[in-house]
Amino acid sequence: MIVLKKAKNYEEMSKMAYSIVKDVVTNNPNATLGLATGSTPIGLYKEMIKDYQAGVVSYKNMLSINLDEYVGLPVEHPESYRSFMNTNLFNHIDIDKANTNVPNGLADDIEKACKDYSAFIASHPIDVQILGIGGNGHIAFNEPGTPLDAPTHLVELKEKTRLDNARFFDGDINKVPTHAVTMGLKDIMSAKKIVLLASGSNKAQAVFDMLNGPISTDCPASVLQSHPDVTVICDEGASSLL
Ligand code: F6R
Repeated sequence: MIVLKKAKNYEEMSKMAYSIVKDVVTNNPNATLGLATGSTPIGLYKEMIKDYQAGVVSYKNMLSINLDEYVGLPVEHPESYRSFMNTNLFNHIDIDKANTNVPNGLADDIEKACKDYSAFIASHPIDVQILGIGGNGHIAFNEPGTPLDAPTHLVELKEKTRLDNARFFDGDINKVPTHAVTMGLKDIMSAKKIVLLASGSNKAQAVFDMLNGPISTDCPASVLQSHPDVTVICDEGASSLL
């Protein structure tokens, strides 16, 4: 079941998301957090950092599992998702970096690394999974056409996704990696609770299709309709077609 919450703006969306995350992390010091990268969750991560600095919560005994990583980008590259997580969250809270997991986009045997990642998720159930949504309805890097029961896998990124992400690579699509490793929809659906954030009118159609369209591989996020505990939080732009 999807509960829809409308926020006035990005800041309110981030605070509403944090109130759900706060409930999980203050009640369970051993929580497993499913985390996303991209522009959308940065405000939520700032709220998490603020409360950590205020002494409200400790992440010392928590575990995190990220959605995805580019293939072939060195981990120290500023746009690798490992770097993103260090810069925007992990460097500012007391989580043990050894307990933070991001898919390995540099593995010699990517297929085995994917299998291992799905197995790891299965043995460490995610208490709350944070998601953004792509303009084409992708969640993590499950692009349109991805089977709804896919485990962690290697994907070729769609042109639209690479164009959207070129803003992080000097606006040059040729610098955006062509492939990524992503948690599959099956892994995402195994989370106990899911919070999906959407900001901006470029997400409005994808949000509409996720909530009102048929469950279909055309809009991978529509699979969330069959999850028991999903909250979608949209700012005004993202909810403009609802
Ligand atoms: C990020 C991820 C992607 C993004 C989506 C939206 O880990 O898996 O699905 O959530 O592309 O990106 P932003 O938030 O940059 O609009």
